[in-house]
Parts: sequence; C-alpha cells; structure tokens
Amino acid sequence: MTIRKIARMGHPVLAQKADPVTDLADPELRRLVEDMVETMIDAPGAGLAAPQVYEPVRVVVFQAPVGRADPGLSEAEIFEHTAPLTVLVNPEIEILSPAREGGWEGCLSVPGLRGWVERPAHIRYSGLGLDGKRIERVAKGFHARVVQHECDHLDGILYPQRMTDLSRLIFESEIRHWLEGKT
Ligand code: NI
Repeated sequence: MTIRKIARMGHPVLAQKADPVTDLADPELRRLVEDMVETMIDAPGAGLAAPQVYEPVRVVVFQAPVGRADPGLSEAEIFEHTAPLTVLVNPEIEILSPAREGGWEGCLSVPGLRGWVERPAHIRYSGLGLDGKRIERVAKGFHARVVQHECDHLDGILYPQRMTDLSRLIFESEIRHWLEGKT
C-alpha cells in the first residue's frame, strides 16, 4: 500500500466527470482502493474520492464514526448517522426529503479551509462493494454529508461550489470564532 499524492483545487482531474468502473476484479482497482484507504487515514480525512488521487473513476471511500455524529441521538438514529469504513463503487444517491441541513465541511483537496454547506439531510445511497455485493443504506447527519461530498467529487464538484454564502469560507484555524457559543 502506498500513500498517494492528493490533487488540490485547480487541478483539472478534480473538475471532470469520472468514469464508471467496469471491472471489479481489475488488480489496479484493488490497488487503488487500498491506497485510497491508506491515504485517507494518513491525511487524516473522513472520506476520499478516486479523482483526488488523480484517478478519474467512480470510487469513493469514507467513514462516519460515532464521534462525528450529533450528540444525543438514540441508538436507532445512530444507525443512520454512522457508517463503518466503506468502499463504494459506481455510487448513486437518492434524496429522500427536501429538508436541507448546514454543516462545516473541509476537503483534503482544499487544505486549510472550511466552508458552511447546506445539503439534503436525508438520503439513500447505493453502489457496489469491492466484493461485487450491492450496498444500499439510508443516511442522515454527518453520514449523509460525507457521502454527498465524496460523490460530488465524481462529478467534478468541490464543496465551495455548493456554498451559497462565501463569507462562510474560512481558514480552519479561525473556526473557533464560529463555533463559540453555538453549542
Ligand atoms: Ni473532498
């Protein structure tokens, strides 16, 4: 496994539509996924899409740990708000409710910055695992956010393009000014 270099905003690979994966058994694909997981964990990040390591194919890896979920959720809610380390090939997203939710996002391709992004709060997503089995889950909260953020990368979209108020595009080191008193 290798930690790969991460493309940064402005590189054309991040602005293009990625191609579907056609051969799940391709050893190159397996190597790519292993490297993506290692690169994500090393960074560290909650998710990574293949175009971020200069491979324009429709593969994402992500995790939504309990520590990132909203506090005070019931056990049933935590199920939808969290996900183990997941590899998703050729993902699709279906929006289940028009309600949107704002949250601070960062991106390994936009280092040092955070932005306030509103996204659909309740989604269903599906795709293939590396074993060829179909994955289908309902997601809310941070889980829904990370999946939408990563899948946006496959369509050449970075989170600043989803922002409606650019005064909320800030340096990570200044985020304390926004978080204070907002508990
Ligand atoms: Ni990103």
